[in-house]
Amino acid sequence: MSRLALALLVAPLLAFAQDKPVDAGPYVPSPQSVVSDMLKLAEVGPEDFVIDLGSGDGRIVRTAALIFGARGFGVEIKDELVRQANADARREGIAERVSFINADLFKTDISQATVLTMYLLPDTVNLLREKLLAELKPGARVLSHDYPLSGWIPEKYVQMDLEDKVKISGVTTTLIYLYVVPAKVGGRWQASAPGRAMTLELKQQITRVSGTARGGGTDAALEDVKLRGGQLSFRLAGKTYRGRVSGARIEGEVAGGGAWSAQRVK
Ligand SMILES: C[S@@+](CC[C@H](N)C(=O)[O-])C[C@H]1O[C@@H](n2cnc3c(N)ncnc32)[C@H](O)[C@@H]1O
Repeated sequence: MSRLALALLVAPLLAFAQDKPVDAGPYVPSPQSVVSDMLKLAEVGPEDFVIDLGSGDGRIVRTAALIFGARGFGVEIKDELVRQANADARREGIAERVSFINADLFKTDISQATVLTMYLLPDTVNLLREKLLAELKPGARVLSHDYPLSGWIPEKYVQMDLEDKVKISGVTTTLIYLYVVPAKVGGRWQASAPGRAMTLELKQQITRVSGTARGGGTDAALEDVKLRGGQLSFRLAGKTYRGRVSGARIEGEVAGGGAWSAQRVK
């Protein structure tokens, strides 16, 4: 590996360790068509609160408010861009619903977001993965322009060719990744379903879940386990279980009749 490549790889990690703001990427605005496609892919609407990490001139959050009726804020390290974004929001008559702050995105509380957007360097996107999973609520949507979050299966993925991107990245390829924040389900649950009590042991790796059900002296593997936000489903003994996870409780239905529920075992 060349010295330059090594320096580029190590610099964000060093800054992180030294508590300096990590340079998560230079100012390169997303083409306006990509902004619209991102917000459409996440089906952003008036109920949404959109946060853009590294908001540049604020175009993602301003478009979310102007076209899709959302609220939100952008966080940006460059003060002149923050001032410009707030001035544009006032001029567009949306300053009641959106604002831009001068802060380090890694230190900003993002728990309010129902939609989180970013167009950042590939390494920094992945430095953010644990923060996204820790702070965002289950069901929140995460949109990343061009760079994926490793180990996290996207809900949707769009690839297109845009001439505008040649001057940015040297190629026309443009990618948009949409992720949905999963509920935390890993661990032991005490469940009751029609005619059976059982202990569920669930293993979770972001959105991938596997597990077993123990009851009546036997262990059975859960089949076809799916987790989308707080919606969990699996098949057990030929029946499909669907449930909504809310903190330490799951409430749901067994296909063909009956309710089931589960409580997290501490
Ligand atoms: C590629 S631009 C994206 C701008 C905008 N989100 C868009 O898609 O049009 C990345 C932005 O992140 C900002 N940035 C980089 N590191 C940051 C940090 N640690 N905290 C806040 N903003 C940061 C840069 O100044 C730049 O404006």
